[in-house]
Parts: sequence; C-alpha cells; structure tokens
Amino acid sequence: MLIALFPGDGIGPEIVAQAKRVLDALAIDGVTYEEGLVGGSAYKAVGHPLPPETLDIAKRADAILFGAVGDPDCDSLERHLRPEQAILGLRKELGLFSNLRPAKVFPELAHESALKPEVAGSIDLLIVRETNGDVYFGEKGMRTTVDGLREGYDIMSYNEAEVRRIAHAGFQAARARRGKLCSVDKANVLETSQLWRDVVIEVSAEYSDVALTHMYVDNAAMQLVRNPGQFDVIVTGNMFGDILSDQASMCVGSIGMLASATLNGSGQGLYEPIHGSAPDIAGQGKANPLATILSAAMMLRYSLNLPEPADRIEAAVAKALADGARSPDLGGTMNTIEMGDAVLAAL
Ligand code: NAD
Ligand code: IPM
Ligand code: MN
Repeated sequence: MLIALFPGDGIGPEIVAQAKRVLDALAIDGVTYEEGLVGGSAYKAVGHPLPPETLDIAKRADAILFGAVGDPDCDSLERHLRPEQAILGLRKELGLFSNLRPAKVFPELAHESALKPEVAGSIDLLIVRETNGDVYFGEKGMRTTVDGLREGYDIMSYNEAEVRRIAHAGFQAARARRGKLCSVDKANVLETSQLWRDVVIEVSAEYSDVALTHMYVDNAAMQLVRNPGQFDVIVTGNMFGDILSDQASMCVGSIGMLASATLNGSGQGLYEPIHGSAPDIAGQGKANPLATILSAAMMLRYSLNLPEPADRIEAAVAKALADGARSPDLGGTMNTIEMGDAVLAAL
C-alpha cells in the first residue's frame, strides 16, 4: 500500500511530521510512503503548485495524507499558479468529490468550545461536502462592464449527476450513523440549490430508513450555534460545506481538531485537517497536530481498510486529551512536538 505524503506550506510540514510519527509507531506491515511537493513550496521549488511528479504519486497512491497549502507570498500570482490550486487540482484530477468532515466534542474540550459547554457537549455530526463542483469550478474571470467598471464573476452550477452521487454519499453516511440527513441549500434564491433539493428528494426514495430534512444555509449557520445536537449528517455543496465546517470546528473547540477524508468512490482518498497553512503561527511550534493525526486515522479506516489501528489512534488522542495535553488553541502551552509526544505516549 502506498501512502503519498504532501506536507505543503506553513504549518503543514510541522503537523504532518507528527502524524507520520504516529503512523510509524503503529509499524503497519506493507506500507510505503512517497513524499511530494504541493502548494507554495512546490511553486517556489519547481514553478507549479501541483507539479506533474506530485500528481503522478497521487494517482499511484492508495491514500494521500495532506498537510495544508497557502502562502501569503503567492497571493498575487495568477490564479492557476496559487498554492490553493494544489488541493483543488488533486480533488478534481482524482475525482475526490465526497468530503467527510466529522465534528464531535471530546468531553474534556467542551469548555474550550465557543458555545456553552452543555450545548457543545451535544455535538456529534458529520458534514458531507461536495468537492468537485459548485462555484469553485465554474467559469470565472475578470471583465469590464459596458460602463468601464471592473467585474469579477464565478459561475455556480451543479448538474443532476453531481448532486445525485453526493446525495447517495450523504444518505449512506446517515444510514451508518443515527439515520438523520439534513440537506443544506439556498433554494429560496439559487437555481443551483433548487436542482440540488429536487435531486436529493428523488434520491431519498431509495432510503426510506433515513429521515430527510432541508434547511437554508443561513438558518443552518444559526442552528449550528443554537442547537448543534440536532444534526446527525449534513449534506451540502462545496462552498456552503467549506464555511459550515470551519464554523463547526469552533463549536467543537478548535479548528485544530477537525479531520477530513475526501473520497472518490474507488477506495482512494485524500486525508487532511480542515484548516489551512496558518501562516500567522507557522514555524513557531504552536500548531495543534491532532486534526492531522485524526485524519491519518480516517485514512487507515477508509482507504487502507485497517479499522483496528484507526481505533487505536483515536483512542490515543482521546487519552492524551484526558491526560491534559493542550496546545495553545486548546488553552494550553504544549508545542506541536509535545502534542505528538502525548499521543505517542497514550498509544
Ligand atoms: P487557516 O485555517 O490557515 O487559519 C485560521 C486561523 O486558525 C489562524 O489564526 C490559524 O493560526 C488558526 N489555526 C489553523 N490551524 C491551526 C492549528 N492546527 N492549530 C492551531 N491554530 C490553527 O485559515 P486562513 O488563515 O484563512 O488561511 C491561511 C492559508 O491557508 C490561506 O492561504 C488559505 O487559502 C489556506 N487554506 C488552505 C487549506 C487547505 O490546504 N486545505 C484550508 C484552508 C485554508
Ligand atoms: C478547505 C480550504 C480549501 C477549500 C481552499 C484552500 C481551496 O478552505 O479545504 O476547506 O475552500 O476547499
Ligand atoms: Mn476551508
């Protein structure tokens, strides 16, 4: 089994190093690793954020463990050369359309949540975010209006096949959990969302055991703070899912805690924390590596079919937290390596 390691930019290398230590400690037979350049570091080294060598490793790999991309030095490059194109390109090139972002409170962290602890304590939800379409991948550009004004545009669209496959992913996830699926859209305004809602309802005919509800995204943002315990699985489009998952992370305690898997239906997957390269703390040892370590656990479970070591990683993270491991984002003083040490000790 081949695991691609793409640390990327900013805190990416710091957090992936800790996840790799945890994987090494498990001494799993038959796993090899290949490292690749992505993001701003790839641009600076070879002139492209997703070099062909990296894409080749990704295509051959069973799974990709990804840190983060993003570099303020690159923010004025032409868009196709920006670091973020690495993650967008991998999702598109490998057909990774189903982005699973679980948010569950570790009991010890309930008081780190931006919510009241008793509200935070109820959170156990999964955001199923579509990642191959939407306004992210439509035609975009800059033009000049007839009045001579600069105008930027990004076309938002979904076709029914794209909605159908992510709807199935949402229903299947709900079926394996508590049987509740909330589809989040903006059907009161957007045609894209009207089609989304129509197709989700059509697909629901195959899942009579799942209770389907619909919610507008603005209400969903509010409900996520008011009463997050009401949600089991949320299925939504690329942009709404991006925004709601960062919000969910703070309900859970920290953006440094949320892991993700992005799957293409053939077993191959990309695993990454939901956060970015955090340039404001890069190189300072302040990054919380737990989201990346938990992403490695998802990788073992979903792409390598190794549920037992995945459980062990998750139990070790829970024990490290119960034993008091806290990085600065969790109100503590431990650095990135010490957080890795705590997980290894618990393992
Ligand atoms: P960010 O997620 O990088 O950071 C937001 C805030 O959260 C910052 O204050 C940061 O210090 C903090 N934070 C993030 N991860 C943390 C961790 N593990 N431990 C402790 N604190 C953490 O978002 P941003 O600042 O909006 O974006 C920075 C760059 O990252 C941008 O270039 C953006 O495009 C990119 N980005 C990349 C990904 C990805 O690679 N998948 C995801 C999001 C953002
Ligand atoms: C994420 C990030 C990416 C996204 C960016 C960096 C392209 O915010 O993975 O959540 O918007 O999908
Ligand atoms: Mn995001």
